[in-house]
Amino acid sequence: MPDQPRAALISDDTHGPRTHTCGDLRADDHGTEVVLKGWVDTRRDHGGLVFIDLRDRYGLTQVVFSPQDNEDAYETAGRLRSEDVISIRGVVRPRGDEAINPNLPTGEIEVRGTELAVLNTAEPTPFVVSAHEERQQDVNEDLRLKYRYLDLRRPDLQEKLVTRHRLYQTTRRFFDTHDFVEIETPVLMKSTPEGARDFLVPSRIHPGHFYALPQSPQTYKQILMVAGMDRYVQIVKCFRDEDLRADRQPEFTQIDVEMTFATEEQVYDLIEGLMADLWRDLKDVDLETPFPRMSYDEAMTTYGSDKPDTRFGLKLHDVSDAFENSGFRVFDGIIDKGGTIVAINVPGEGDRGRGAMDRLDAHVRKQIGAGGLVYFKLPSDGSELYASVKSSILPEENVQAAIDQVGAEAGDLVLVLAGSTPDVYKQAGALRLHMADDLDLVPDDAPDDFLWVTDFPLLEWDADQQRYLAMHHPFTAPRPEDLDALDDDPGAARARAYDLVLNGNEIGGGSIRIHNRSVQQKVFRALGIDADEAEKRFGFLLDAFRYGAPPHGGIALGLDRLVMLITGAQSLREVIAFPKTQSAKEPMVDSPDAVDPEQLEDLHIQLDVPEDELADQTRPMAEQK
Ligand code: AMO
Repeated sequence: MPDQPRAALISDDTHGPRTHTCGDLRADDHGTEVVLKGWVDTRRDHGGLVFIDLRDRYGLTQVVFSPQDNEDAYETAGRLRSEDVISIRGVVRPRGDEAINPNLPTGEIEVRGTELAVLNTAEPTPFVVSAHEERQQDVNEDLRLKYRYLDLRRPDLQEKLVTRHRLYQTTRRFFDTHDFVEIETPVLMKSTPEGARDFLVPSRIHPGHFYALPQSPQTYKQILMVAGMDRYVQIVKCFRDEDLRADRQPEFTQIDVEMTFATEEQVYDLIEGLMADLWRDLKDVDLETPFPRMSYDEAMTTYGSDKPDTRFGLKLHDVSDAFENSGFRVFDGIIDKGGTIVAINVPGEGDRGRGAMDRLDAHVRKQIGAGGLVYFKLPSDGSELYASVKSSILPEENVQAAIDQVGAEAGDLVLVLAGSTPDVYKQAGALRLHMADDLDLVPDDAPDDFLWVTDFPLLEWDADQQRYLAMHHPFTAPRPEDLDALDDDPGAARARAYDLVLNGNEIGGGSIRIHNRSVQQKVFRALGIDADEAEKRFGFLLDAFRYGAPPHGGIALGLDRLVMLITGAQSLREVIAFPKTQSAKEPMVDSPDAVDPEQLEDLHIQLDVPEDELADQTRPMAEQK
């Protein structure tokens, strides 16, 4: 028997449909005859019995085979391996007291297996697949993604996808009851700028012309407002060719919303209602609304971020005044050039050792990119403070003024960064997050913390390109009172834009839009887009604005980020069925892939790729699989 091929185990399924799933059975099913189907999670042989943990999406059920019940079934069960697919018939019985598993919903029962059919066998899997956490291995993510169908058999991943599904349902119900219409917009479209590179699709019929995949359906949803659809929503895929991070995928999903005659308050109110429904349905939590609001300026100067995590303190303080004319050349030079000196008081860290401070200094230089770290330690025993810069260089009275300003007391540590504005705020914001992480300031069960960030600048100066870029996108309305600033001091114009932040993550962004042709042209001009180019790229929108375009506004929420935060996942890859890796690949299907030269010819495309990089692409398609 042992060397008989495993394929010989496969038999017909004569049991008919399953009567229950592997998560259904409870103590009061005692005596019921059942048919179950699923995967063999684990097999244990002892005491002349074979125990199988049978798994499906709904749970695990223990099935026991004994030679007394069915000799053949017992023999076959003894040869089962993890991930074989089986069908069993059997009878539910209670487990003995000592065998009850309180951690398993089906833990009070087991099924006495009377028949067994093997529907398919599994070869040894490249990594252990099991619902039992203790059996799960730490596996390289590329390998898991290559065999994603095995990876996805893990209950925690399946649960995340089910939560994602429930999020779609609640979202659609919510918008339906608020009179929104779900409308699909094209995937093959023309470039819409959202600040990233486009993914392009060559047109075969129009040689040398390309569609762009939508970075967002921004212009279409605005056109739908001009078309009188009044309230639009779409759960929509967006594509951005940008550098990947744990919270960014090249292909991601938005809950995209637009409303005619909308004000900021209406958008806030609507989205708070959606969040309340989602948290109630998915987390059984009653959210407190309305959410707090904070201006962009306050977020930047107090938290060093436009998506501040306000679950902990460690606020930033501008202590430039305390160091005015201190004689310390580094600080004086920075203040003279219009820079800022920013301090953070870290309570309870005043006794940090030298080694820990050196490591922090290295982190500040290498990871955060600041020039260096100045710090003052106030020992907890009340002894004299220690300043990282000698008092002969940085006078004590300046140090004391800074300490007083941040309210530091014995036992506290004051961290100081100096640099050009606004960079130094961003660096201090990164240091603040690093300290919170290091000191574990956010408990796992901290309540979710929503925040609207408002009053964004309309434009931001891009030093590399030496021109203004839209902080949100070029269709965002300036504050009416700031229209003139667009000509005189474009950087000072504020936008009617807002972001929704959750626990320090940007989960949504939107604005009231421009609906007036001349204002739109003015903003294009401020962005360095001349009239010809504006006509070429956005003529359709400018045209639409000629024919009674109503005021409108909206928002888009990052659906993947929402699911990530709701499920406590560490990365978007855990909440997307088939995500891309950090290097923008999908290891299972092996995309992106080379294509047949004939396909390129059809598309009038010639490659200009170095020989060695091309090697992989010259193989015919069939061979590449
Ligand atoms: P924005 O570019 O801010 O706005 O995008 C809206 C939200 O989408 C999510 N998001 C992403 N999620 C995963 N991976 C990415 N690469 C990625 N990029 C963005 C974020 C973000 O807050 N058209 C405007 C919306 C509007 O003005 O209505 C837009 O797309 O959670």
